[in-house]
Amino acid sequence: MHLRCFVCQFVTRHLRHSKAGLLRNLHYERHARNLSCFSQRTCSVTVCPTTIKSQCKSIFVAKANYSTNIKGKGRDISHVPDIKEFLSASNDATNKQLHDSTVEPIPYLEKATYSKPPNGKTVYFETYGCQMNVNDAEYAWAILKEDGYKRIDNLEKADVILLVTCSIREKAEDRIWKRLTVLKEKKLSGYPKIGILGCMAERLKKEIVEKEKAVDIVAGPDAYRDLPRLLEQATNESQTAINVMLSVDETYADIMPVRFDEKTKTAFVSIMRGCDNMCSYCIVPFTRGRERSRPVESIVDEIRKLSNMGIKQVNLLGQNVNSYRDMSSVEVGMPNLNAEPMSQGFKTIYKPKLGGLRFADLLDRVSSVDPEMRIRFISPHPKDFPDEVLEIISERTNICKQIHLPAQSGSSRILEQMRRGHTREDYLNLVERIRSYIPDVSLSTDMITGFCGETEEDHEDSISLMRLVKYNYAFLFKYSMRKKTHAYHKMNDDVPEKVKVQRLQEIMKVYYELLEQTQRSLVGEVQLALVEKV
Ligand code: 5AD
Ligand code: SF4
Repeated sequence: MHLRCFVCQFVTRHLRHSKAGLLRNLHYERHARNLSCFSQRTCSVTVCPTTIKSQCKSIFVAKANYSTNIKGKGRDISHVPDIKEFLSASNDATNKQLHDSTVEPIPYLEKATYSKPPNGKTVYFETYGCQMNVNDAEYAWAILKEDGYKRIDNLEKADVILLVTCSIREKAEDRIWKRLTVLKEKKLSGYPKIGILGCMAERLKKEIVEKEKAVDIVAGPDAYRDLPRLLEQATNESQTAINVMLSVDETYADIMPVRFDEKTKTAFVSIMRGCDNMCSYCIVPFTRGRERSRPVESIVDEIRKLSNMGIKQVNLLGQNVNSYRDMSSVEVGMPNLNAEPMSQGFKTIYKPKLGGLRFADLLDRVSSVDPEMRIRFISPHPKDFPDEVLEIISERTNICKQIHLPAQSGSSRILEQMRRGHTREDYLNLVERIRSYIPDVSLSTDMITGFCGETEEDHEDSISLMRLVKYNYAFLFKYSMRKKTHAYHKMNDDVPEKVKVQRLQEIMKVYYELLEQTQRSLVGEVQLALVEKV
């Protein structure tokens, strides 16, 4: 029997049955052990002749004492694995546990027995940041609902308050710190329990526990399955319960997120998580971990269910949505038909990723579920727009003719510093190619002003790019230095704050001028619109 490792694509025979009769992929476990992800997972690519098919799981055995529930307050939490460990895929050959075939229990997969808090398990969510966070909150809510919680809109009556946090810029984190100070005042005799979920949890686990004594649980973006147990622990032991492990394969594929607003006709469907791009300014790869894609079948299944529920628009979500790559249905020995489908002229600092079902395949499948259902996607990277993707967008009437194409800067010099993998010219050629496939396409962008070393000339290049492309929408930011990033370690945040602000204002002014022109050109047109809410 062969099994392809879905971390490094190595084809392995390194399998063995554990004492409990489960099939284990020892090669993969070497990664998993180093990458510190503690979850039970099904093999993504399995050719399994075993008669115990239902048990054919690649089990990663969590070392029980390398616990997922590291307690804060007064204890040493310095051994919580951080991103360096996570990114290091080096094999730890000396790890004694490697050939240990005893399947140890995975603590948080056992059902938590929650002792009843004052109001009967009520939870209040507060979500900050991007759509991915909104969707994450829906996953967290699905998990807690299953565990018997009730979601309430009244913060004052909540047993548990969960903040789904964002770390992308300093301002986003400042808001959460301020919010925590206010929430802390509400705590009476231990309630409500307060939890920090998402990006900030991973980034600032230590600071959150040490500085903000109000926080009872800290759960990273890959630890939502663990929420019931973390809450139980925080209740019973009155200690901060923490799980900030990042995973190489958690996609929550088997969980149907529960939407907060049941009246809306739009739903978000997460198709991949994490980002491998390592743009030099960006903290996302450090807070959300490595790229991993959810299997096509599970996405199509969710979209079918949403269609049956009357949803009219689905937004496919991911940090790097168009580098989607599902290896779950690829058999060993199959040719790599989809080798490296990148946009012309673009490059990546990573080794080419070969094989699997790619974004064009996924768009084909999801747009065929319900021709009346609109499909959108966010957020893509310009490097992953091969012609197949543009063809399918142009050809399917239900895929919206709107593409987010984050430029970040209009200067090739700054783009190189940002490690975006393309020049200004590559980007403009891509815009031209997109428009040749989809003439009426609506384009949007993200732009950063005042990145390290940005000169007046670089800034003018950004403005001229805005003028050339004429975006229908733009998200404009001033640069905010983030710890752990390449820029933090290697560059100087040398553009004075005043200049950053001034450049941001200038770019905004140009954007709004151009937007007015673009919108005026639409006056008198008849467009099909989706009424999202009445
Ligand atoms: N400073 C300012 N903006 C940033 N972004 C990401 N990191 C930073 C940062 N450190 C912006 C990028 C990205 C968007 C989601 O946020 O434009 O595309
Ligand atoms: Fe951040 Fe770049 Fe990844 Fe986008 S593509 S999430 S900007 S590292």
